[in-house]
Amino acid sequence: MAPKHLAKDARFFRGKPIEDELELEAAGPRRFHYGELAAATANFSDDRRLGSGGFGSVYRGFLNDGDVAVKRVAETSRQGWKEFVAEVRIISRLRHRNLVPLIGWCHDGGDELLLVYELMPNGSLDAHIHSPENVLPWPVRYEVVLGVGAALMYLHQEAEQRVVHRDIKPSNVMLDASLNARLGDFGLARLIDGRRSRTTGIAGTMGYIDAGCFLAGRASVESDVYSFGVVLLELACGRRPAVVLDGGEDAIHLAQWVWDTHGGGGSGFLDAADARLNGEFDVEEMERVLVVGLWCAHPDRGLRPSIRQTVSVLRFEASPPILPAKMPVATYGPPVSGAPETGSSDGSAGVKISMAAGSASATVQLNALSCL
Ligand SMILES: Nc1ncnc2c1ncn2[C@@H]1O[C@H](COP(=O)(O)OP(=O)(O)OP(=O)(O)O)[C@@H](O)[C@H]1O
Ligand SMILES: [Mg+2]
Repeated sequence: MAPKHLAKDARFFRGKPIEDELELEAAGPRRFHYGELAAATANFSDDRRLGSGGFGSVYRGFLNDGDVAVKRVAETSRQGWKEFVAEVRIISRLRHRNLVPLIGWCHDGGDELLLVYELMPNGSLDAHIHSPENVLPWPVRYEVVLGVGAALMYLHQEAEQRVVHRDIKPSNVMLDASLNARLGDFGLARLIDGRRSRTTGIAGTMGYIDAGCFLAGRASVESDVYSFGVVLLELACGRRPAVVLDGGEDAIHLAQWVWDTHGGGGSGFLDAADARLNGEFDVEEMERVLVVGLWCAHPDRGLRPSIRQTVSVLRFEASPPILPAKMPVATYGPPVSGAPETGSSDGSAGVKISMAAGSASATVQLNALSCL
């Protein structure tokens, strides 16, 4: 039952009052009152702000039973009630050692939407990979790779209902007190059942979105695998997805840079490794992370591995794939309304965007889509 003071604000979602909808689903995480969270975050003061993203800001908060990160979804953000309900419903059912635990949520009548997560004391991975002061040691990076892989395997293949994350990137990977990786932000996720492996709507962050997914406007497990691949390359190379070339004016995608400059394996491949590591890494692990990163970022979605395959290779339970020395060509047709998303196509319809090393115009377009 909705508390009395909320009755006047009653709104409906799929014909049911919103509050009932959440009460039914919120068996795990608890519901907070706005006042509790305002007090915990010193009224969402700027000095408590941990960062801001596409949906609003995140604040550090102190509650009696521990420190929290409160995600305050801005009224003007793209995220509305429906997405909020989806996020609460999805993550309240998900439990895994490599996911950021959701402690609770708040919707106190108005448009204010708040999500309360366990505070991850070591912040997000992006700050660690690109910190000018400290170099993230290789063993920690490798554990992060395995941790994010395990989280994605859970979301794609082990959870009760398959979840496509849609926004895998280093700022959505947190590090807990033991530097264990925890994937956060399921606000963009949609539940999809086993048969319909695709969701509609596009979300995500440039550089981590697969161009085919961007063009088709649909996220899928394959586009999550692509983003995972970019994160692996970022961890291995210590470079952001857009690599600025020598002249300083042009940039290419990290996957293309690794493939063009260092090949898809073989001699010279390890030169792609982060120079700041000073060679202090396990060579076989580094090779696997690079090769799996490229495999996941394969331009042809149909040739990307499943997350289970990537995890098997990363855990040394399966052999790594043999990749071509040059980045393969894939072409994408435009999205066809209502039709299933196509992989690399024969280009039978509309404008094709070719993604290949050696095609200058293609490179420009890929960069425009994926990097900038
Ligand atoms: N549970 C948490 N513990 C510690 N820090 C967090 C937590 N959740 C988020 N943060 C911090 O808050 C920052 C902002 O998060 P937010 O999700 O709003 O933006 P983002 O991840 O950069 O972009 P996006 O909106 O695409 O997810 C993150 O980069 C992270 O540093
Ligand atoms: Mg985030």
